Amino acid sequence: MNIIFLGPPGAGKGTQSKLLEAHYGIAQISTGDMLRAEVAAGSPLGQKVKSIMASGQLVPDDLIIALIEARIDRPDCAKGFILDGFPRTRAQAEALDSMLKKTGRHIDLVLLLDVDEDALADRIAGRFTCAKCGEGYNDLYKRPKVEGTCDVCGGHEFVRREDDRRETVAARLKAYREQTAPILPYYEEQGRLCRIDGMADIDDVTKQVFAAVDAITKK
Ligand code: AP5
Repeated sequence: MNIIFLGPPGAGKGTQSKLLEAHYGIAQISTGDMLRAEVAAGSPLGQKVKSIMASGQLVPDDLIIALIEARIDRPDCAKGFILDGFPRTRAQAEALDSMLKKTGRHIDLVLLLDVDEDALADRIAGRFTCAKCGEGYNDLYKRPKVEGTCDVCGGHEFVRREDDRRETVAARLKAYREQTAPILPYYEEQGRLCRIDGMADIDDVTKQVFAAVDAITKK
């Protein structure tokens, strides 16, 4: 089962794709996380993309396509994968289809998290993650059960993303509207797009997502 998650910044792609990974045992691939790891490691790719990401722009298609092509060939993708944050342009969507075709694979389902843009600023401003295990939290919507302690690993240090500043979020939303939203018809015309109400609370969104995946599995 190969799945794509689409939706604007803060829609809940990371939250829901990690839950899908845990439930169905298929690999979650976040291009944002992969790029942030390259930046943190100071690799040549990280040095190239650091300022682009900090400004909220999309990194060039050729860089991200090469990254994904290598990633989906890894053994943990044999049972399938969940793409979180890719594709984000028409060129990326077409490149993905042609790289999958070469290995006899295809995309089974494209999940679009439909959200009201006004809610996104609060979600993004409130987001923080455990510095040790990466578990995600939110000041308003998902606090650790014990204040200051990660539910998963017991860590006490938390971090916030550099590109979650208000002015950068505006640039990220603009990039979504202008470059990513236009690829929705590409998947809609192929009958692969499934809209999910991303304004529901996290558990309700998960129920909708699992129902959409189960419906495809039973086909
Ligand atoms: P990336 O890391 O992909 O960021 P993004 O798409 O902007 O998405 P976010 O991670 O901000 O949000 P999300 O939808 O995952 O929401 P989350 O689940 O965290 O990309 C970062 C940058 O990398 C890009 O700007 C670009 O520069 C570059 N890049 C990456 N991929 C690229 C590509 N393919 N091409 C070119 N450039 C690329 O949820 C947000 C918060 O809300 C959390 O705190 C969560 O707890 C909370 N929340 C989630 N769901 C709900 C809910 N239903 N109700 C209430 N709160 C909720």
